[in-house]
Amino acid sequence: MRSEAILDVRDLKVSFGVRRAGRKHRVQAVDGASLSLAEGEVLGIVGESGCGKTTVGRSIVGLVRPDSGTVGFKGADVIGARGASLRKMRLNVRMVFQDPYASLNPRRAVGDAVAEAGDINGFFKSRAERRAAIEATLTAVGLDPSFAARYPYELSGGQRQRVGIARAILPTPSIVIADEPVSALDVSVQAQVLNLMMDLREQLSLSMLFISHDLGVIGRISSRVAVMYMGRIVEQAGTRTVLDHPLHPYTQALVAAIPKPDPSKRIQGAIETGEPPSLFRRPSGCAYAPRCPIASDRCVADVPELRSVGTDGRIVACHNL
Ligand SMILES: Nc1ncnc2c1ncn2[C@@H]1O[C@H](COP(=O)(O)OP(=O)(O)OP(=O)(O)O)[C@@H](O)[C@H]1O
Ligand SMILES: [Mg+2]
Repeated sequence: MRSEAILDVRDLKVSFGVRRAGRKHRVQAVDGASLSLAEGEVLGIVGESGCGKTTVGRSIVGLVRPDSGTVGFKGADVIGARGASLRKMRLNVRMVFQDPYASLNPRRAVGDAVAEAGDINGFFKSRAERRAAIEATLTAVGLDPSFAARYPYELSGGQRQRVGIARAILPTPSIVIADEPVSALDVSVQAQVLNLMMDLREQLSLSMLFISHDLGVIGRISSRVAVMYMGRIVEQAGTRTVLDHPLHPYTQALVAAIPKPDPSKRIQGAIETGEPPSLFRRPSGCAYAPRCPIASDRCVADVPELRSVGTDGRIVACHNL
């Protein structure tokens, strides 16, 4: 655990009850994930679709109730928090959602959407203060204050996501959890929205969890990266370390899959093989073993724990390193 961590997630487990072919099953969406976010840093969480990234984010902000584990915010466990400590956490840890179309209530004017967290928590002392805060926040995300009276259907995807960001920064939080904030947007506006997020991070001294399935985007944004596979973090280190010298075989596969503009730099014969195994039939031992080029008997038998490797704070969960 990093002592200066503002957010510290330990052994988080989340399962969902689902019906499949008429029978009840439990899906282990998060299976013992641990990560820590240092004050002021951007930590990327990367991993393929369905590995549990969104569920980790939703658990941290209290939208999903984990089966077990702890979520420490400034040293206090916030799972099951009530009253004042729950309110403090709700205002300080906020989420920007992947889909700006689905995350805004179509019947609610933009200004009311932006003020929602403040309204629920009695943050505004007067209507004038509320209006001024909404206008200042809209301006901060690059929208004209007149947007306060508009409705989501009148906005473009990029404008909607700016509203989604505005919702997450009024009142100013300590941590923003950005869940694939640009992947639903046109390529032409993705860079603008990413730049906006980075500017706000700087201006508001935010710490950030930046969730993406795209290691290329994470590489531009985050100072450290946590790589997630089937509900667990398998490697966490500085972004350059991960991109230049990935250690875990799964991280190596992800790095090899980053599109390279120069064809001569493309890696031939990517390491990645096969589809991810089903969450309904988790492999015993290391969940990556069935796809791993260096798996041994031990990998099938024992789950590898995260351990420190090297000197730069890297942690990796692999028996063969
Ligand atoms: N409310 C839910 N009910 C049932 N299953 C769920 C629920 N939420 C998530 N899951 C399942 O949990 C697993 C992890 O989902 P999650 O959305 O956290 O993955 P993800 O890494 O964010 O994927 P993506 O990159 O596609 O957004 C998936 O198998 C998903 O189907
Ligand atoms: Mg997701």
